[in-house]
Amino acid sequence: MMNFVFWQNILAKYWGLNSQLSLLDGEYDLNILVKSNDGNQYVLKIMREDCLQEFVDMQIQAINHLKSIEPELPFPDIIQTISGKKFFHCKDEFGNNRLLWLIKKLPGRKYVEYKRKNLNLLKELGSMIAKCDGALESFEHDLLNRSLKWNLIEAIWVEKHIDLVEDLSRKVILQDIMEEYKNILPKLRDQPFQAIHGDINDHNILVTGELQDQPNISGLLDFGDMCHCPRVCNLAIAAAYIVLDHDQPEVALTSLIYGYNDNSPLKVGELDLIWPLLRMRLVVSVVNSTLMSKENPNDPYITVSQAPAWKFLERRSENSKFIAARLRSACGLPVVDGADRVLSYLEEARGSFAQIFNFDLSLVPMGSLSVENSLWPQNPFSLPLDEALEVGSDIIAKDSFWMGYYNEPRLIYTEPAFRDGPWKASDRRTVHLGIDIFGPADLEIRAPINGKVVVAENRTQHLDYGGVIILEHETPEGNLFYTLYGHLDPKFLKQLKVGDLIQSGTVFCTLGSNQNNGGWAPHLHFQLALMTDGIEKDWPGVGSPDEMYLWNALCPNPAALLNLPDSLTRYEPVVKDEVLSDRKSFFSSNLSISYNNPILVSRGWKHHLFDEWGRPYLDAYNNVPHVGHSHPRIQEVAAKQMNRVNTNTRYLHPIQTAFAKKILSKFTKKFDVCFFVNSGSEANELALRLARAHTKSKGIITLDHGYHGNTTGAIDISAYKFNAVGGVGQVDWVELVDLPDDFRGKFKRNDADCGKKFGNLVNPAIERLEKKQKKVSAFIAETFPSVAGQIIPPDGYLKEVYKNIRNAGGLCIADEVQTGLGRLGEYYFGFEHQEVEPDIVVLGKPIGNGHPIGVVVTTKEIADSFADGPEFFSTFGGSTLSCLIGNEVLEIVDDEGLQENAKQMGERLLTGLREIKNNFPQIGDVRGMGLFLGVDLVKNNTIQDEDKDLCTYIKNRMRDYRILIGSEGPKDNVLKIRPPLTIDAEGVDMILHYFEKIMKEV
Ligand SMILES: Cc1ncc(COP(=O)(O)O)c(C=O)c1O
Repeated sequence: MMNFVFWQNILAKYWGLNSQLSLLDGEYDLNILVKSNDGNQYVLKIMREDCLQEFVDMQIQAINHLKSIEPELPFPDIIQTISGKKFFHCKDEFGNNRLLWLIKKLPGRKYVEYKRKNLNLLKELGSMIAKCDGALESFEHDLLNRSLKWNLIEAIWVEKHIDLVEDLSRKVILQDIMEEYKNILPKLRDQPFQAIHGDINDHNILVTGELQDQPNISGLLDFGDMCHCPRVCNLAIAAAYIVLDHDQPEVALTSLIYGYNDNSPLKVGELDLIWPLLRMRLVVSVVNSTLMSKENPNDPYITVSQAPAWKFLERRSENSKFIAARLRSACGLPVVDGADRVLSYLEEARGSFAQIFNFDLSLVPMGSLSVENSLWPQNPFSLPLDEALEVGSDIIAKDSFWMGYYNEPRLIYTEPAFRDGPWKASDRRTVHLGIDIFGPADLEIRAPINGKVVVAENRTQHLDYGGVIILEHETPEGNLFYTLYGHLDPKFLKQLKVGDLIQSGTVFCTLGSNQNNGGWAPHLHFQLALMTDGIEKDWPGVGSPDEMYLWNALCPNPAALLNLPDSLTRYEPVVKDEVLSDRKSFFSSNLSISYNNPILVSRGWKHHLFDEWGRPYLDAYNNVPHVGHSHPRIQEVAAKQMNRVNTNTRYLHPIQTAFAKKILSKFTKKFDVCFFVNSGSEANELALRLARAHTKSKGIITLDHGYHGNTTGAIDISAYKFNAVGGVGQVDWVELVDLPDDFRGKFKRNDADCGKKFGNLVNPAIERLEKKQKKVSAFIAETFPSVAGQIIPPDGYLKEVYKNIRNAGGLCIADEVQTGLGRLGEYYFGFEHQEVEPDIVVLGKPIGNGHPIGVVVTTKEIADSFADGPEFFSTFGGSTLSCLIGNEVLEIVDDEGLQENAKQMGERLLTGLREIKNNFPQIGDVRGMGLFLGVDLVKNNTIQDEDKDLCTYIKNRMRDYRILIGSEGPKDNVLKIRPPLTIDAEGVDMILHYFEKIMKEV
């Protein structure tokens, strides 16, 4: 037990500090956290007994040197004693000799404990390491040249201990890495030496950042392992730790290197060493621990602490040259030695290569299969063989020649092999890395340049290449490059084999047909690669949109070999930033947009969306595409009707009445009249007019925080808008009542009379209207308030409200825009749950599945009162097209059992969310019905402390994981989950998986 009083006295005597102390961790030395009464915090470093004075001197000098050159970097201040000493000898409470020094404590948590790491943080770390290396270049100290087991240039010492590792497969891994290390050692020794930190591991990096902030590096600690060696070792050591807990280690590594290079350019020689050195550092670490555990067999912590390193080493390692290529391309350097010379050669020789076909390709038109331009395939998750055979038939007549673009994102690559993860919305490879030349089967193909066959195969799998050949070529300067020819007739295998030389201009294969080319419309996939390490014969023909920095460098546009300009054959998707900046120019700044990083939506299918690069997103937010995005039946009726006629309700058409009949079939007999308009707002406006016409009064009672639309009248009854900052305020004919929120409201759900009590709150509102000489015309409410935070009113609520309103002579309007048409699973309309019958019902959004339709449904009696006034006409309401679409939506909900699906999927989601809630006090409430769900987030386990920051964080993180959800509630602390009714168990499970993962981050 430590004698803190002893150390308090030392601190008072030498530094003049009055303080509270606690022990921090430290491997060899004692570190004490000092909380001084002046509010500052320090760390008292009590060095181990045999510690050399030079060792402390080196650290202090290095820190001061760094601070003088890079004052912005977060290194700790050294606090001198009252007499001006930076460190001194002193006896501890047991009479042992110790060296003492004091540093200012830096803010933040250890990197290893910080859960919200992201790639920007790694870039910042890379840049900080670069600055640290830059400053230490001019630092010298005698101790830097001491022998140190952690100095990567000396790591050979572990070789003789590898046999201590008992597990054979582990031993083989270590030996392989050791061999690679020995191979690179001469190159490493050739790098210039300098002082480095030498131990930027995940315990020596501090990170700060609240939920709403981008995290920042707030400290680099512990200069005890400083040594003299090539600077790349410093970077490789840091890299070894940051890859450990990352799902995609190569991506994390690339960000770190990118950040470093941005600050201090790395040379290709250094970049090529990083991966082998990183792995060697982990070998040193696990061997060192193995030695320690032999000495301390009863310390389980030693083994446990090595688990992440073993896990990393045991995973399939990417090819070192491939990783080097990745890092080189991230730093804008040639992807492989000689790549720049190959590109110059191809540029110079463009126009002089032998023609691949016996005609000039510059006459062949380009056609696009891009996400933006093409409808292939209709279902972006499945390309059946009959569609594959027809791909592009809408572009140019079958068997005519046309070319498909390089760098084009496409949705035709639907097989699971193109996906990186278990979910439909997982990352997916979409971007085409070659040029396609479509034409009739059997066409002869010639080599554009002399080449040697390195691959000649028949790949018979569904939608693979069929016959495929890879040729190796050499530039006149002796640099190698490769070309791939896919979708060939495999009959070439009879006369061609690996090693054969093909002369420029000679026919060496023919175009396959769908019978032998993987099932595709006949075409040649022609691709160039500047190296094959790591891809060998399995070149990806498409790459992930987020990795194009690598693929564009490794597999550049092969147009030169076809004697075509790059600009003709390279696809450039719409540039999102330009669209965003135009939007800012041409639209008002209060036009809201979702996410810090907005999404450009190019395609949709059921409950998924795709951006311009083909990245898929699970849509758990949009309720407008009620029966799913791009439903084929809606596409069909809309296209057909647009070809015929689209008029309005001044003319007769049977679809108008058919649609009305279909809607009324969902209601009780009380309802017999429909009005068609073109938005929810317009429908609510009309509902107010109907009520006024019928009751001859104007007063409206509505819920606080409600929303009914964007028109002047609808805003007047939408507290969510009129009470917002800058809102128009409350008009005198509107009175508000409390939300029936049995979680946070006045009355709670454990009160059996809660619904009734909330319902009675309309009575004082009626009185307030009457005091103003106004009578209540109607009560209007979203049956389940949505923007107010996905509230499910308690049983009996509307019964009580409607009774009171009717007693006062008012009508009851149910805004079912959000809740109607089966979303609630158990009920087709929300008011059914409340066991009431409104007088007027408003429908919108989902009823058009994206087409603008609003509907008001009421009784003949009310409609007649309204008919006493001027004629009713809404130009677009009830157009032939709208009625057809609306009718189709209702039919699809029935035909596809979507209400039942909403019930089942809603239950699955609700059960999963409630299970997650049990483990996280930040989840105050999980509520909902069917696919209308809310997750209410709170701070400190307190209902009154709504956590908006957490809600925003989760919403944005879900987007990072490709899931779209929203946020709502008066304090914007409720996650809103409201997917199209087509969502399936896979989609639900994806939401639950990532929601739980994100909760663990916070
Ligand atoms: C409950 C409710 N009513 C009415 C509206 C207005 O509908 P629209 O935007 O189609 O005018 C909305 C829109 O969000 C709504 O949520």
